[in-house]
Amino acid sequence: MTESQPAAEQPQQDGGAAPAAAAAAPSRRAVLGWGGAGLALGAAAAGGAAAAFGGGSDMVSASAAGAAVPFHGAHQAGIASAVQDRLHFAAFDVKTKDRAALVGLLKEWTAAARLMTAGLPVGDVYEGLPEAPPTDTGEALGLKASRLTLTVGFGPGLFAKDRFGLEGRRPEALVDLELFPGDNLDPARSGGDLCVQACADDPQVAVHAIRQLARIGFGRVAVRWSQLGFGKTSSTTPDEQTPRNMMGFKDGTRNISGTDKAALDKHVWVGAGDGSDWLTGGSYLVARRIRMNIETWDRTPLQEQEDIFGRDKGEGAPVGKSKEHDEPFLKAMKPQAHVRLAHPDTNNGATILRRGYSFTDGTDGLGRLDAGLFFLAYQRDVRTGFVPIQRNLAKSDVLNEYIQHVGSAVFAVPPGVRDKDDWWGRALFA
Ligand code: HEM
Repeated sequence: MTESQPAAEQPQQDGGAAPAAAAAAPSRRAVLGWGGAGLALGAAAAGGAAAAFGGGSDMVSASAAGAAVPFHGAHQAGIASAVQDRLHFAAFDVKTKDRAALVGLLKEWTAAARLMTAGLPVGDVYEGLPEAPPTDTGEALGLKASRLTLTVGFGPGLFAKDRFGLEGRRPEALVDLELFPGDNLDPARSGGDLCVQACADDPQVAVHAIRQLARIGFGRVAVRWSQLGFGKTSSTTPDEQTPRNMMGFKDGTRNISGTDKAALDKHVWVGAGDGSDWLTGGSYLVARRIRMNIETWDRTPLQEQEDIFGRDKGEGAPVGKSKEHDEPFLKAMKPQAHVRLAHPDTNNGATILRRGYSFTDGTDGLGRLDAGLFFLAYQRDVRTGFVPIQRNLAKSDVLNEYIQHVGSAVFAVPPGVRDKDDWWGRALFA
C-alpha cells in the first residue's frame, strides 16, 4: 500500500449494516488486535461500529460517549448532528495543478474518513513492512470513535479560472467575504481551497484524523492554517445543557436544532432550485477566528456584561424574562445589545446554524491570553445568512469593544457521501 493510497485499498463496509443504535464502537486497539483494519471491518459490523454506515440518525447524543456517528447520508455529519466537545479544523491549499490528482485525493480522503469515523485506523500501524513508514500514525489506537465527524468544504480558490476546470461551477452564493468594519484579518489564518472540520469528544481522535488526511494529501495539498477548539459554544440539541463561552455566558441558546427539519431545509441545506445542482443537500460554512480581549472583559462589571449580550449571566434569560428559552423581547434590550442586533427580526429573517468552539492558543507575548471564539456558521446562502448579520454586528454591536475578528474563510460544503461508492465532491467533478 503506498502512502498516498492508505485507505482506498481497505475493504469497505456495505451500506446494509446494523441499525444506528448508539452502540459504542470497538476501540482501535481491539480492532488491530483482531488482525488489522481489514478484518476489523467485518468484526465491527457484528459488534456495532457499523452504526457508522447504517444511514440512520446522526443525532448520536453526548450520553453515547465513544459511539460512532453515521458517515453516509444525504447531508454531511458535523453540521446538524449533535455537537461534540472538541474540534480540530484545518484549511488546505491545493498544490497539485492536476484535476485527476485532486479527484484521487478526494476519493482517498473519503475512504479514510469512512474508516476513522467508524473508529478504525486508516492503515497498518505496526504490522506493515519494517522498511516503510506505517500508513496510520497510531496515536488513536485504543481510542473509541468518540463521535468523530469529518466535514469537508470547498473554498473559492478551487473554482478559479484555469485551475481545475471548475470556474463555471462556482455557486453564486459562495461570495468572497467583504472586509467588515473592525476586521483585522491575518492572511495566514484566513482562506483555503479545502477545509476539513474534525469534531470529536476526544481531542486526540480529532487531531489524529486531520493528521492522517494531511499525510495522505502530502504533495497534493498542504495545511494552510488550522485551529483547535476545546469547548463547544453552541448546541444543536436544545434538550442538553447549553454550553458557555469564554465570556462565561451560555452560547447557542437560540440556535437551529439538529432535529428541526423544516428549519434546516429553510436555513441550512442548499435546495434543488438554489442554482448549483452539485451542491443540493450541502451548505455553506463561514469560519471566523474571533479573538477576545479577555483581560478587559474580566474587568467589566456584571451589569454591563449582561447589557452587552441582552441576557443574564446565570440563567441566560433574555432581558425582562426569567428562563433561558423564553422568547426574547428585543425592545427591552439596549439598542446595541448583541442578541438584539443578531436576532432574525433585526436582519430580515437571516438565520444561521452556529457550531463554534472556544480556543486558547497560549499567550500573545504581551501577557494576554490568545483566546476567543472560533466561530463556525452553516447556512443555505452566505449572502442572506452570515453577511447581513455580520454587517449589523460589525457596525453597532457593543461587544466589539471586547472582540476582534482575526481570521476568516468561506466554503461550499458538498452534500453527504451516500454509500461506499460515493466520495466527497463527486457531483462537482462529474
Ligand atoms: C466572540 C464573538 C461572539 C460571542 C462571544 C457571541 C455570544 C453570543 C451569546 C452569548 C448569545 C446569546 C445566546 C444564544 O442565543 O446563543 C449569542 C447569540 C447570537 N449570536 Fe453571537 N457571539 C459572537 C459572535 C457572533 C457572530 C460573529 C455572529 C454572526 C455574524 C453571531 C450571531 C449570533 C446569533 C444569530 C445569535 C442568536 C440571536 C437570537 O436569535 O436571539 N454571534 N451570541
